[in-house]
Amino acid sequence: MEKDNRLTPVLRHVLVFAAHIVLATILMTFVFAFRSVHDVRFDFVTLFTAGFMLFCLFSVNYLVMAHLGHSDVTSVIMVNIALLLTIVASLLCIFFGQFYVMPIAFLALIIGTDVDKHVALASHFTCVSAIAVCMVLFFYQSPDFTFASVALQIMTLLVNVGMGCLLIFLIRPYSSRLRVLIVASITVLSFGVVGFVSAATVGAHPDVMTMVTVGVSVILGGAISLFAYFCLSPVFERVFNLDTGLRLMELCSFDQPLLKELEEKAPGTYNHSLTVANISERAAYVIGENPVLAKAAALFHDIGKMENPEFFTENQTDGYNPHDELIPEASVKMITRHTEAGAKLLDEKGFPKEIISAALQHHGDSSVGYFYHKAQNITEGSLEETGYTYLGPKPQTKINAIIMIADIAEAATRSVRPSTREELVALVDKLVQQKMNERQFDECPITIAELTKVKEAVVNTLMGVHHERIAYNTLDKKK
Ligand SMILES: [Fe+2]
Ligand SMILES: [Fe+2]
Repeated sequence: MEKDNRLTPVLRHVLVFAAHIVLATILMTFVFAFRSVHDVRFDFVTLFTAGFMLFCLFSVNYLVMAHLGHSDVTSVIMVNIALLLTIVASLLCIFFGQFYVMPIAFLALIIGTDVDKHVALASHFTCVSAIAVCMVLFFYQSPDFTFASVALQIMTLLVNVGMGCLLIFLIRPYSSRLRVLIVASITVLSFGVVGFVSAATVGAHPDVMTMVTVGVSVILGGAISLFAYFCLSPVFERVFNLDTGLRLMELCSFDQPLLKELEEKAPGTYNHSLTVANISERAAYVIGENPVLAKAAALFHDIGKMENPEFFTENQTDGYNPHDELIPEASVKMITRHTEAGAKLLDEKGFPKEIISAALQHHGDSSVGYFYHKAQNITEGSLEETGYTYLGPKPQTKINAIIMIADIAEAATRSVRPSTREELVALVDKLVQQKMNERQFDECPITIAELTKVKEAVVNTLMGVHHERIAYNTLDKKK
């Protein structure tokens, strides 16, 4: 991320830890203000100890996030805001006498869908622990304190822990809103029953009223969480520029102004992008990557070609080729700039960073061989190949590697037009091997086993695609 690059890791850690001190202080002030109403005073040592415990919890959560590769500014700010909101909402319920209503599942939902499951799990436990610390502080020397009520609260907290964990497990980052609503509603209702039954285990004599109160409170906490999730998720998406399922589906819609513009200015590229999107979606699905993200990223991978569509073979319908009037060096510049131009345009339009990276990385630093050979033919002596390659970087993610493969396979199939599945398999094999020889997959975590699955998915999707097209050799060299 751009903003992260401006901060050294040490400075970033210092800023995050400072933010955690502020966060712990806000929460302590909050608890202190509510306790003042009850005229219970805290001594400085108690407040400092509780605040320090909160600081440690938030900092451990950050270290776990860093370990999981989510220490970027956006994720850290988002997780901390969601943590603060969830803790404050739960404490407000307690402060206003609703001791068993805890909208903790909000955090699990929003971080699970918008950041990462593992981060959601770590943040969930941090949140529950922080609420426990604040609860202890709130009930410290309080007339409301009874062992039975605290035992019930701890039990309710544990039921909420289970509910959050199950929600994180069941809901995928690219789940539709409807799926989230259905899955979360069933989970919340089920845990209401769990709360009801669990309340019977606390105390010597199970009290039906208490059991109902706990069961209803668990459901109420879950319902508040769901409501807050649906209200705040779009806000988080916009503010933090996230690639959630709904946002991605919006981007894949044919109403998308940028897609409409691509269709008008570069119809050949538009059709190419649609097929690459279908291939990428399927390939991502078979290796467990986000298929909606792959589809959206593939739809916009060549958006930079809108700048000068006539320089790309798929848009040359009238036989005119502007490269005939250019020296090879100038042609290469016109061709290769579409990756950077696309990334710049998507960045200006506020697209998610994953989609921008696909536009930038889908050719890696591959050679634009046709113009290199053309230049060699008119140059005396040897010629450096470095000036005749894409600017890179190589694909950094599995999805970008998939788009690179789908891109070349789609173009090749339309020109070579293999007539049997065997021929198509051989063609896709050859293309992927070429990219491996060029070491294009060296910087992304895709495995050989996954590449095999991707190739199979590419073949399966392309089986029905046959278009009239100029010879692939010409196309490949001019892409
Ligand atoms: Fe491209
Ligand atoms: Fe392409």
